[in-house]
Amino acid sequence: MITCQTIDAIRQQVADWKTAGDTIAFVPTMGNLHAGHLQLVSQARQQASRVVVSIFVNPLQFNEAADFEHYPRTIDEDCRQLQSAAVDALFLPTLDVIYPHGQSATTKVIVPGLGDILEGEHRPGHFTGVTTVVNKLFNMVQPDLAFFGEKDYQQLMLIRRMRDDLDMPVQVRGVATQREPDGLAMSSRNGRLDAGERQLAPCLYQQLAEIEGAIARGEEDFRQLEQDAEAHLDRQGFRTEYVRICRQQDLSAAQPGDDKLVILLAAWLGQTRLIDNISFSSPSA
Ligand code: PAJ
Repeated sequence: MITCQTIDAIRQQVADWKTAGDTIAFVPTMGNLHAGHLQLVSQARQQASRVVVSIFVNPLQFNEAADFEHYPRTIDEDCRQLQSAAVDALFLPTLDVIYPHGQSATTKVIVPGLGDILEGEHRPGHFTGVTTVVNKLFNMVQPDLAFFGEKDYQQLMLIRRMRDDLDMPVQVRGVATQREPDGLAMSSRNGRLDAGERQLAPCLYQQLAEIEGAIARGEEDFRQLEQDAEAHLDRQGFRTEYVRICRQQDLSAAQPGDDKLVILLAAWLGQTRLIDNISFSSPSA
């Protein structure tokens, strides 16, 4: 695995591979890699002849400076994992490479509407940080395919929208959420949970599964299901930000009879904010 720190170095390497007839798959990450990230790498490995992974903890997408500073950085262990996963190139840009004019002065990519609801409403500016950095990373790496997790369902939708709106010549592939045996979605933030919180955390996935079950049994009052789930999680010790039953198509509030649904939630457990979702076809549709 080669490591590139500059735009010139990664572009030259990718250009050489393309000249040799390779297809390039790209997996952008913020590091502290776990089996969820590695699943993206494995899909990339199967679908292209060269795999590029980036690690960049992007300050522009963090709402709080402290959250950015405390984000886990485990580069040596990450490198070992990427090496074992047969990654061809690791792109490791510094802050100056990504934001040479500083974060506030940089040109931004904003996806209105879809970027303002759910996560966008609770984390103002977050998605602008994500789409801005992913746009830059796409321009730097110039991949044929890019892989994103369904764990961040709204992020995946926004990247597809950005790709369409800006006519980017890259195929965006979604990869199913990888979970711990007890159902908790894998996340770099799980490491911050204390033992008690870790025990409670799988309730989020259980709650999603329960709502799916209720809808499968014919429950039609979706707004009541959302409220009951929020109250239930709060009683268990979460501080729930939202539980929403949405249409997969545009994340608007789902109504009975809608075909493709996704249930998304965000909740705090102590100092840690967790998100999860499940998507499914409504049996009644
Ligand atoms: P990060 O949180 O490091 O996640 C990198 C990629 O891994 C994302 O596409 C995310 O959805 C995926 N991922 C995380 N946990 C997963 C899981 N349990 N199962 C499957 N996929 C999972 O998301 C980001 O970084 C950043 O916003 C980024 C896109 C890199 C832009 O800075």
